[in-house]
Amino acid sequence: MTPTGLPMTVPDPALPTRVRVHEVGARDGLQNEQSVVPTEIKAEFIHRLADAGLTTVEATSFVHPKWVPQLADAERLFPLLGDLQGVRLPVLVPNERGLERALALGAHRVAVFASATESFAKANLNRTVDEALAMFEPVVSRAREQDMHVRGYLSMCFGDPWEGPVPLGQVVRVCRALLDMGCDELSLGDTIGVATPGHVSALLTALTEAEVPVDRVGVHFHDTYGQALANTLAALRHGVTTVDASAGGLGGCPYAKSATGNLATEDLVWMLHGLGIDTGVDLGRLSATSAWMAGHLGRPSPSRTVRALTHQEQ
Ligand code: HMG
Ligand code: MG
Repeated sequence: MTPTGLPMTVPDPALPTRVRVHEVGARDGLQNEQSVVPTEIKAEFIHRLADAGLTTVEATSFVHPKWVPQLADAERLFPLLGDLQGVRLPVLVPNERGLERALALGAHRVAVFASATESFAKANLNRTVDEALAMFEPVVSRAREQDMHVRGYLSMCFGDPWEGPVPLGQVVRVCRALLDMGCDELSLGDTIGVATPGHVSALLTALTEAEVPVDRVGVHFHDTYGQALANTLAALRHGVTTVDASAGGLGGCPYAKSATGNLATEDLVWMLHGLGIDTGVDLGRLSATSAWMAGHLGRPSPSRTVRALTHQEQ
């Protein structure tokens, strides 16, 4: 239950009036879970997220099952979502093999996932940055021919566990390459959660100077150092209106042992609703869904808002 009348709505005229939440819990959240979640539970999770008002729910990945065993059931999961009307169900595809698997199941939206750094490109895709971009090119052009919407993720935009600081120009170059090959939107990933608001602001300024339209840019923060909401606010002040988040704060990063996961959707929605920003999300239903999923995973949700609303124990 949400407390009656709270949070109080106090709008900030410098901010957008509506934000689209790109829900990644079923993909980015679950992909880091060690124990494999049954396919039926994943399907129910996605249905409950849609019932809570989320209109973009990233469903799964068509990657090599050895690389991400948790999502090896993509072929069985995706058909269980066929009844969801009016909900966007993007899926990750790294290469043409992945795209073929997604096309065979009738997916309408795909995402490729690049890296701003060489170390992560190697660790995540077994490629250099440019080899990965070359791998995506035919994927994006074939997807566009099929009238699919294509998102281009970019990881390690604000820091890398092996390389440390990541120069802004490096990030801008890969963003431009993704847009130039035909991606409809970008998502700027702070994969290990090291960004701070001034850095977010500097990157968005650099992207604007490079003529990357801000209405095609989303942000994807991880909350490792507790900065995800502050970083989101900085992005909103630059006009960003697409924010990635994970129900209950599910997720993590295998390359950052202390990573606490993605920005929790409930924490994001609490802040946005307090600012009078429309999301279409029912916070009570969403928190109940995350508490239910936490029960399946056998530990409480790390989201402060889920804990406050459902009185979960630490
Ligand atoms: P590779 O070993 O270089 O693959 O991996 P390959 O191209 O040499 O192919 C080897 C074998 O894999 C072949 O089979 C292919 O058919 C098969 P064989 O001929 O030996 O029998 N194969 C596939 N099978 C099923 N589906 C496919 C597929 N592709 C090849 N799509 C590869 C390259 C890209 C496949 C691998 O590195 C991979 O799957 N990586 C995925 C990693 C991943 O999913 N990471 C998590 C997502 S990114 C993320 O979470 C960050 C994000 O949230 C933003 C942020 O926070 O920063 C998005
Ligand atoms: Mg992520």
